[in-house]
Parts: sequence; C-alpha cells; structure tokens
Amino acid sequence: MPSRRTKIVATLGPSSSSPQVLEQLILAGMNVARLNFSHGTPDEHKARAKLVRELAAKHDRHVALLGDLQGPKIRIAKFANKRIELQEGDAFRFSISHPRDAGTQEVVGIDYPDLVKDCRVGDELLLDDGRVIMVVDQVTATELLCSVLVGGPLSDHKGINRRGGGLTAPALTDKDKADIKLAAEMELDYLAVSFPRDAADMEYARRLRDEAGSDAWLVAKIERAEAVADDEALDGLIRASDGVMVARGDLGVEIGDAELVGIQKKIIAHARRLNKFVITATQMMESMIHSPMPTRAEVSDVANAALDYTDAVMLSAESAAGDYPVEAVKAMARVCVGAEKHPTSQKSSHRMGRSFERCDESIALAAMYTANHFPGVKAIIALTESGYTPLIMSRIRSSVPIFAYSPHRATQARVAMFRGVQTIPFDAAALPAEQVSQAAVNELLKRGVVEPGDWVIMSKGDSYDTIGGTNTLKILHVGEPLA
Ligand code: G6P
Ligand code: MG
Repeated sequence: MPSRRTKIVATLGPSSSSPQVLEQLILAGMNVARLNFSHGTPDEHKARAKLVRELAAKHDRHVALLGDLQGPKIRIAKFANKRIELQEGDAFRFSISHPRDAGTQEVVGIDYPDLVKDCRVGDELLLDDGRVIMVVDQVTATELLCSVLVGGPLSDHKGINRRGGGLTAPALTDKDKADIKLAAEMELDYLAVSFPRDAADMEYARRLRDEAGSDAWLVAKIERAEAVADDEALDGLIRASDGVMVARGDLGVEIGDAELVGIQKKIIAHARRLNKFVITATQMMESMIHSPMPTRAEVSDVANAALDYTDAVMLSAESAAGDYPVEAVKAMARVCVGAEKHPTSQKSSHRMGRSFERCDESIALAAMYTANHFPGVKAIIALTESGYTPLIMSRIRSSVPIFAYSPHRATQARVAMFRGVQTIPFDAAALPAEQVSQAAVNELLKRGVVEPGDWVIMSKGDSYDTIGGTNTLKILHVGEPLA
C-alpha cells in the first residue's frame, strides 16, 4: 500500500498516451488523470481514458479521470506570418473587424467582440500569460488602440487577460457544453469548469451536467481576480462546487505574482474548512518539461503545497508534453512523502471551537479525533456510497490512513482525489450484518495494513446503501472476534 497521502493529478497529452508511458505513470503514483479539453479530439480523449482504466485495473490501482473544460479563454486570432515581435513603445491594435487570419505588425483580429466594450483607457492587457504587456490608449467601436509596455514575441491564438480581471465572458461556451456531454458519455469522475465568475456559473454547469446524465463532481478553477476579490466571493464559489483548483496560470496573470502565494494558501484553507477538496496546479515542476530533475524552487513549491494540506498537486505540460512525464510523477511523489513527515501535516485544528452541521459530519470528525488521540489506531474504515464520508474525514489532518470501502466503481475512483484516502472495493450490503466488521478488518489484515492487537475505527450507517446515512462509529480490536 502506498503511504503517500497527497495525491497527484497528471495531465495526459502527446507525451503520455502510449500504453507503456501510461502504465508507468500509474505505477509511479498518478492518482488522477486529467484530460485537457482545450487540446485533442474526443476520440483521443476516449482512447486515453479507456487505457487508463484498463491499466489501472490490471495493477489493482484506482485512478480517477478529470475532464477539464476549455472555458471562455479570450484569445487573439492569427497572424499572416504566424508571429510578430513587439518592442516597448510600439503601437498595436486589437480589432473585432480585422480578418481573422491576417494579423500584422500593427493589428490582430479578436474573436471576442465584447472586448472593446469591456475595456477602458488605461487598462493593462496581458498577452501570452503576461509575457507581453500593453496599455489601452483609446477605445473605438471596433478597436482597442494600445501601446506596448513590455515587448516580446506574439503568435497565433495567444490568450489575453486584463490586469485586475473583469473581462466578462460567460463561463460555459458551446464547446464546453458539447464536452460536458462527452464527459457524461465517458463516465468521467470529475469535471473542471474554467473561469467561473461566481456560484451562478457553477450552478449552471451543474444543471448541464445533470441534463447530460453525468455524475462527475464539479471542480471550480479559481483563476479570475473577481473570484478572490473578497472572502464572500471566494467562499460562494467554493460552496457551489465539490472541490476547487488553484489555477495559478491565469490567476497569477490577473492578480500579479506578488499576491499569488498568499492567495493560494488562503484558497487551500478555505476549501478545506468548507469541506471541499483542493488541487494546486500549474508550473509545479515546469523545468521538468526538459530536465529529469526538478529545481530546488520547484521542490519547495510542491512541498509547501503539501505542508499547507492541499489534497492534490498537479502536473500540466510536464506530463502532457514534456520529455520526462514519469520522472515528474516520481519527483512529486517523493517530495510529497518527505513533506508529510513534518508534524504540522499530522496535527489538526479543524473546526476547533465550531459546530458541526450534519450527523454524518459529526461521526466522521469524531472518528478522526479518536484516531489522532488513541495511539493504537492504525486505520480508519469508512463504508461509503458516494465518497462523502471519507472526504469529510480527510479534511482533518492526520497520519492515520483512511480506507473508503465501496462497491461502486465511480466511488472507488473518486476518492483517489482525497488526501490520505485509499479505496478497497467492498460490498457490505452483500454480507449478513454480523459479518461486516470482521470482513472489513480482514481486508486490512490481508494487505498487511494492520495486525492483531491494533485498533481500527469503522464508520457506517443503519442501512448499507444510503448517501449521508453514516451515524455509527465503531472501534474494533483486531484479533478479537468482531460482530
Ligand atoms: C455505505 C454504508 C452505509 C452509509 C453510506 C454512507 O453505503 O454501508 O451504512 O450510510 O455508505 O455513504 P456516504 O456517501 O454518505 O459516504
Ligand atoms: Mg487557466
């Protein structure tokens, strides 16, 4: 059994689509495979998903699949010669009427007509994740006239952000709506929504997901300045989602790199406090795109996210398009394990002095309090239908492993996202009630997780298949006859 608690999300792409590489990624510890709907065709995504599920099953691993919607990223159109080079002080225009494939040294088309309505004189525009910066000098009915503040190369389809955020494209495009149907067809476990502005965007995504017949849990990517403008906005977005992603690429461009680290820590803390999971993403091991070793700064970045108790750390281009996808997963895995040895990773002050909201939450948190204060406890078993009980448990810092016991494939995969949670396929409803405890403990004995004399905590409900039904906490002494 792997002892790492922090989970690894790895983006799949050209570097990681062969069965050989996928198999190695799974063995190296990929817990969640991310399919990026901004790139690739439906058939490519389907083929990757099928391989991941087959190879995970072959090795008795449980890997969740996350589909990441492209969202309304605002992009420039194309240049006649693919790319231009801008110098500080150059004049440049964005035009909603200029031909889409004929950008020049002076002007480029833009696919988002509202840009001219949304921008004001004095706004700063950031192109290509902030590599080129311009200021708006004049706004006409069809064009933004700008001067270049920081020059550099600019090529086809590069993204455009405004400093401070506020470009108001709706969060779900027609392509996203089609991809939500694709996600339902592929039975994806998670669906990430790009650039949501507020809770309403997530509620809309949830409706579309339901209509498509998917039960994927929804991840809000926190990547707009508005989303982190104040606690109310951030918490509203978190509450409307099942989990969040600190999407540092666009977020860093909009709020500036100086604010980013503090905001990352705040998002992690708020998500956990609100009983949601959190993924820390973007450029975590960026240099490993071309190098087999991470830099000290990257090691520190991953370790700090683990110390702050993120559920998962994520690889983007490192695993999708880099030269060392497997090494990148291995490096993340070892850095997380190292960070988890630090005592702050094992102590909790979650909800100290606050009240619980639900019966199952009370049981889940009582289980964790017991596990952290009764040294004989070596494992926690949560019988779960949807994965909710182990999710709540894993909001508490602990070094005791949590085992999600479920008969459902989707739940077994889903819990791969949660910090400190592993799954064991188990159908309690198929057993006589008086045999459930012993059968459950036997699974841990079989795997060498516990031995006679250890204590195990188990949570369950009165009936064996009710979401939210957890109302019982048992403390079992391994080796004694259990009922
Ligand atoms: C399993 C148990 C039930 C419990 C349920 C909780 O089905 O056998 O006794 O009520 O899980 O599921 P949840 O999705 O809320 O974690
Ligand atoms: Mg983004």
